[in-house]
Amino acid sequence: MTAPLIDPFARAITYLRVSVTDRCDFRCVYCMAENMTFLPKKELLTLEELDRMCSAFVRLGVEKLRITGGEPLVRRDILTFFRSMSRHLDSGALKELTLTTNGSQLERFAGDLYAAGVRRVNVSLDTLDEAKFARVTRWGRLPQVLRGIDKALAVGLKVKLNAVALKGFNEDELFTLAEFCADRGMDLTWIEVMPMGDLGNEDRIGQYWSLNDLRATLATRYRLTDLPERTGGPARYVRVEETGQKIGFITPLTHNFCESCNRVRVTCTGEIYMCLGQEDVADLRAPLRSSESDGPLENAIRAAIGRKPKGHDFDYSRQRADGQVSRHMSHTGG
Ligand code: GTP
Ligand code: 5AD
Ligand code: SF4
Repeated sequence: MTAPLIDPFARAITYLRVSVTDRCDFRCVYCMAENMTFLPKKELLTLEELDRMCSAFVRLGVEKLRITGGEPLVRRDILTFFRSMSRHLDSGALKELTLTTNGSQLERFAGDLYAAGVRRVNVSLDTLDEAKFARVTRWGRLPQVLRGIDKALAVGLKVKLNAVALKGFNEDELFTLAEFCADRGMDLTWIEVMPMGDLGNEDRIGQYWSLNDLRATLATRYRLTDLPERTGGPARYVRVEETGQKIGFITPLTHNFCESCNRVRVTCTGEIYMCLGQEDVADLRAPLRSSESDGPLENAIRAAIGRKPKGHDFDYSRQRADGQVSRHMSHTGG
């Protein structure tokens, strides 16, 4: 039996987030700059290499695999990869195969994702107003995403919405978004905006809306009961007694959750980031390509986990408008 991945702070690493592309058909203002330079295709891990990479992590004890991007569904032939990964669900080694998506391609892919063993998807959606949606994504079309969500629900996928809390942008949609989700039996998670990447003229400090304040506003209309259960991700949940729905809060700024971190990220070029909020990175592509055996890759994974830091140090009090972590969020898929 292979020894599981345990980091220097005795945390077991059982959750892998894999970014399969740096590209996206949107340019959310907190995620990417308007003009991004994307990687040449030859830099990317092939689907076969991604498969070997993920399978090595599964052998080392990863139970939850989340596919991210950029936008994962814009990667060509991505369904082949999902179908191939489903063998780890069948064997029982993997408990969950899932993805985080902007929803733009969901209408087309939902049925096939379900058939490949995906049961739950997280869709990033910050507003239900078409004009605001076009603004925050820089050109996205809301109806396309809403059709994607409907299709996902229709094929039996459980859908959770992720909304980034943005002051002066979606503060007025707190209840509208909650009702939209409650009506469809969907959970909703709010996320504090994190200072990553150089976003040009975007005013991050001005955008930041603490989830303490958001929760207090929710509580003016709803009775909220804290829930002990988690999904393996960083969110803490409440139940809204009036609607029965769950609302989650991801609070890297106001309530650091690093002590229970169970995850690492691999980028589409095969780099491993041990923490979203730190720059430290290790290359897994060279060991992957160096040998047909997975020994060097597994050793490199273990060495990287051995360097996992205690946590991030995102902090708006330093009053810097640029990112404290210089890479864009899209590089590691959140
Ligand atoms: P569930 O499986 O539904 O719990 O999803 P998840 O929260 O694990 O994944 P998702 O892709 O929906 O992530 C939502 C947000 O949480 C994204 O903005 C991520 O950047 C953020 N997030 C996830 N993991 C971490 C983490 O380890 N640290 C920080 N700071 N943010 C994280
Ligand atoms: N801060 C917080 N969340 C972000 N996301 C993208 N950029 C940021 C940021 N700077 C979110 C997306 C998506 C998830 C993968 O990450 O909205 O839900
Ligand atoms: Fe694309 Fe998601 Fe980043 Fe928006 S947050 S630009 S949808 S990767």
